[in-house]
Formats: sequence, structure tokens, C-alpha cells
Amino acid sequence: MSEALANLLNETRQFPPPAELAANANVKADAYAEAERDRLGFWERQADRLTWAKRWDQVLDWSNAPFAKWFVGGQLNVAYNCLDRHVAGGRGDKVAIHWEGEPGDTRTLTYADLHKLTCQAANALTDLGVVAGDRVAIYLPMIPEAAVAMLACARIGATHSVVFGGFSADALTNRIQDATAKVVITSDGGFRRGKPSALKPTVDEAVANCPSVEHVLVVRRTGEEVAWSAKDHWWHEKVETASPEHTAQPFDAEHPLFILYTSGTTARPKGILHTTGGYLTQASYTAHAVFDLKPETDVYWCTADIGWVTGHSYIVYGPLSNGATQVMYEGTPDTPHKGRFWEIVDKYKVTILYTAPTLIRTMMKWGEDIPAGYDLSSLRLLGSVGEPINPEAWIWYRQHVGRGELPVVDTWWQTETGAIMISPLPGVTEAKPGSAMTALPGIVADVVDDQGQSVPNGGGGYLVLKEPWPSMLRTIWGDDNRFIETYWSRFGAGANAGGEWVYFAGDGAKKDDDGHIWLLGRVDDVMLVSGHNISTTEVESALVSHPSVAEAAVVGATDPTTGQAIVAFAIPRGNTDTSGAAGEQLIADLRNHVAKTLGPIAKPRQIMLVPELPKTRSGKIMRRLLRDVAEHRSLGDVTTLQDSSVMELISAGMGGGK
Ligand code: WT7
Repeated sequence: MSEALANLLNETRQFPPPAELAANANVKADAYAEAERDRLGFWERQADRLTWAKRWDQVLDWSNAPFAKWFVGGQLNVAYNCLDRHVAGGRGDKVAIHWEGEPGDTRTLTYADLHKLTCQAANALTDLGVVAGDRVAIYLPMIPEAAVAMLACARIGATHSVVFGGFSADALTNRIQDATAKVVITSDGGFRRGKPSALKPTVDEAVANCPSVEHVLVVRRTGEEVAWSAKDHWWHEKVETASPEHTAQPFDAEHPLFILYTSGTTARPKGILHTTGGYLTQASYTAHAVFDLKPETDVYWCTADIGWVTGHSYIVYGPLSNGATQVMYEGTPDTPHKGRFWEIVDKYKVTILYTAPTLIRTMMKWGEDIPAGYDLSSLRLLGSVGEPINPEAWIWYRQHVGRGELPVVDTWWQTETGAIMISPLPGVTEAKPGSAMTALPGIVADVVDDQGQSVPNGGGGYLVLKEPWPSMLRTIWGDDNRFIETYWSRFGAGANAGGEWVYFAGDGAKKDDDGHIWLLGRVDDVMLVSGHNISTTEVESALVSHPSVAEAAVVGATDPTTGQAIVAFAIPRGNTDTSGAAGEQLIADLRNHVAKTLGPIAKPRQIMLVPELPKTRSGKIMRRLLRDVAEHRSLGDVTTLQDSSVMELISAGMGGGK
């Protein structure tokens, strides 16, 4: 990490905003000073960008920290803010979503269309017995119904829990059970890599073990055969025939809007809970400020999946609350060809593109000739999210996608933060490639050392957030203690009585000589694969659940494409044949076993069968040493090893096994 750091901090290039963008930017430099003078007043003005049925009595109640209440006493409806007010304001005919299916089929939904479908879905859910406060699981491909399902839940006050369509039946089961969801909204499948990819069988498998589920709503997307049970209803029969009349009731500002599960360091995923008023305020403001979104002229495209928080905040709630026109794409970037993304930018004249470093690195690998083959002149702003973007990738993005002119906003945030926290402002900041730069107006971020002391410029340590923010998670669903333990005990008042509550983000960071923030990845044992957090413990548990594995250790090794790649070390059970072809077969079986248990994203790049694992005397696995092996480095300090000969055995195996 220190090597990478030295390189990062040698980065001296800096790019001022284009003059025209700076002159017309939604948010100018004075926003920082405004928020600094009166942080709560600043957020109050951002809340006023929304339409409230009842105004709040208090901006922030932090008296029961770290459990925050924002806009206390206020009432609003999220779907009303994303749809009805635009329709009522005469913008019903404006395109909300240009949808592009992977096979090339398209749909155009205006705000009026989206409003009508959402009202119908709200009526259908109500008819199925869903009431405010119930949980609804959503397991869908990237089709407009995914956004409609979320908005319909929000409209009736049901709390949605979107589960990424790539997750396995086990992962879906755990998430449905944890939230005790009453209804699941899914589809027969979606299109992926040129073929239909089924979802309904996974739901059937999960629902069999989820007694809380009373109904399953199924969108017909691929037209493939599906098994049918008494709980199943076709979306086109239940929703599209429902009344399009629905009056949105306001809900309390702290009413639970959604749960989204994120993997932690233990095998049990955390249900991150977001609520209504503060979340929408910050999702909406940041879309306006960071993307400089101009609803009248922009065509915005965020390439994330709706199953991740990026899709929640920057496909559904942020852009739609601002009345933006956006592109939504179902498929993969190389189907049917490697120019698909650029073809979409060209076709819809996309002006703002928000994507992930892993995709940018993939595009780099494919070569700059591919974007060069399309007209990308409509673009005016580029964004990045999900993991640290290395300066080469940033420069490549600006050069080959952004004509060497466009601002790149590297946006740092988390499922837990709900919205962007650290990022350049495109009309203000002189961005440095590889740095997320500074906290947004109204946000207080810092880098602290082990003791929680702020480090001076040039220093490194842990990223923390020092004041509550409107879109912060409110708790971990059903586990307040774990919420305090995970986020507020490392440097907070819990560990440091009498002190301020300090939010521990779990990321390493550095401040450069100008005080700008550089993110360095996770400090705990969470791997970041293609922008997705996957915990080592989860993968280890999956490996050990295989009958031939006794023990396993997993590390994230730097990977040029996916950021980190999963490398696993597994100790076979005694009687397992690991010689030659049998060993190869076992490795293949284990990789598939992990993919089946946790989802394809968790499939290890490489599995080593080893006789032992390096452990401390207290029995803790020393992942640091395994990381050295996985990244082909010479070994660090091995003196605390229980048995130092173990590492020789493992390293020898690694050299031959690659
Ligand atoms: C973790 C959060 C935020 C939506 C997608 C991921 C890493 C995210 C950046 C960035 C460096 C970043 C952090 C963070 N991360 N954006 N711009 N620079 N690192 O959401 O799955 O909750 O993951 O992603 O490590 O803690 P998530």
C-alpha cells in the first residue's frame, strides 16, 4: 500500500473546470462557505428543493446519537417528488427513461408513463395486502419495472429491499428472511451476454424457504417457460390492469424507505436502513451539484445496476427527483460488441456518464480505437464510483472518452452514506487524477490516525466522517448494536467517552500537501471486486461448506481489471485426492461451489490447495502474508508465525500453480 501511495502522491497533474461549465454550474464555490457558516441551514435549503406535505419542526435531532433524525416532524412522499410534481408542473411529456434492452429492443417512458405505471403498481401491491411498513423484496434485471417497483413501494410506504439479480438463491433467501419480506417482485429473467438468463427459478428456490412471502409478482421479460405456484402473479395481469389513479400519502421524514444489504467482515450481510426525507434531500442535491444536472438539456446515464446503492441513488431517486432524462441499459458492455456503451452514448446523445473504474480499465484493455469509432461529442461531464480510480485510468477516461477536455468527478461514498460525500464539484474543483478531492458542502470528512487524531497534510490513516449527514444510514436492520459496533465504536464516543461521535468508514486514506483526500481501499478484510464489496469471511465460509475442504483463507489480490481479485487458499480434507487431474477438478468444483453459494461475482480467480495456513500463535490467519504470496511479493515479517515453514510450502505451490 505504501508503494502505491508514493506513486499516487507523485501525481501533480491538475485540471481546472472548462470555463463554460464553471460559468453555468448549478453549484459554485460559495456553497462551501455557505455550508461552513451554518451546516444545518445549508441542508435545510437543500431539503427545500423537494416538495413537502408538512414542513419539519427541527432540522436534526442528534440527541440519541448515533441514531439520527433529520427533518423531524416533516412529511413527504418520495414517489410524489420523483413523478407527480413533474407531471403536475407540465413536464409529463418529458422523457424520464430511454431504455435499451441488451438484444436492442427499446422503450421510451415519459414522466407521465412512469407515473401511470407506478400508480398501477402501487394499487396492485395494496391489493396484495401490502401496507406501509411492510417489506418488499425486488429481484429484477435492469428493466424499467425495477424503477417502477421501487417507486411503487415508496409511494405506499412499503420498505423495499432490492437484491442484485446476480445473487444466488442462498443470498436471496438470507436477505428475504432477514427483512421478512411479504412480497417478491421478480421476472422470468433478463438478457445477459446475448442469452436469456433466468431469475424466476432462483426466486422459487428461495421462496420455498421463506414463509414470510405471501405473493410473487413476475414481470414477463424473456418469455421463457417458468414454473408457477399459487403465490405467483403475472405483472401484466396484476399491475397493467390496475387503476392508474392513486393519491400518494405523505410519510414521516424518518419513515423507512429501503434496506440494502452490504457484505461485512462477517458472513452475515448487513441490512443498511435508509429513511425518507434526509435520504431524498441528499440524493437529490448531490445529483444536482456533482453531475451539474440540467433537466432541460441533459441526457444522463449511470451504468450501475439497480441492485447496488449507486442504482438506488443515481438511477432512481437522485435523477428522477430532479426531473432528469436518463438512459437505462439492461446488458453487458461487450454484447454484441465491445463498442456497445459508446454506441449508446452516440445514439441517445448522452451528456453525463457515470460509471466505475473497473469498466474504465476494461475499456482501456480493449483499446482506445473502440471509443474513437463513435461520436461522443455530446458528453460534457464524466463520473466515476465504486473504488479508487488509478490516475492512468482517470487520464484515459478524460482523454479517450472526454476528448481531453471534460471534467472527471471521482465520487467517494458507500451504501451506508446513501449519497455522494467526497467529490470534486465539476464547475469549481481543479481535479487531480486519482483523488476524490474534498468533502462536499455540508459534509465533514477527515483522515485520522490510530488514536483518532486528525493527521496533518501529507499524512495517512483512516477516513472518518465527523458530523451527521442527511442520507446517513439510520441503523442496521434489526441490529442496533451491530450498527454502533461497526461504524461508531472505532473512534466514536463509544470508544472515547465524552468525545464526538465519529463515523468509521473502513477505508484507508491520505491527505496530500494541499489537504486533498486520496482513498486507498478497505482497511479491513473486505475485498473490492469490480466495485463490489465481498468479505473474505463469506468466501471462506462458502469454501469450507464444501465437503472436501477443511479450512480456507481468502485474500484480495490487486488485479488490473477488477481492482481486486479473490485468491483463496484451501486445505483439503485428509482423504481427498489432490494429485494431478483430481486436484484440477477439485479446484474447478470449488470455484463453482463459491459462485453457486454466493453468486458469480464471488468466484475466486484462483484457488491454491495448500497443506497448512499461516497462523499466529493465537490461531489467527495472517492474511497479510497470503496477500504477499498472491501478489508475488517477497514475504513480510514472518516472526509471529506459529510455523514459519508453512510459508515456504505455500510459496512453492504458488510459483508452479499459476
Ligand atoms: C466502498 C463502498 C458507493 C457506491 C458503490 C460502492 C469504495 C466507492 C470510491 C471512490 C475510492 C471508493 C470504498 C467504499 N469506494 N467509491 N470514488 N474512491 N473508493 O458502494 O458497495 O457500499 O462500497 O467502495 O472502499 O467504502 P459499496
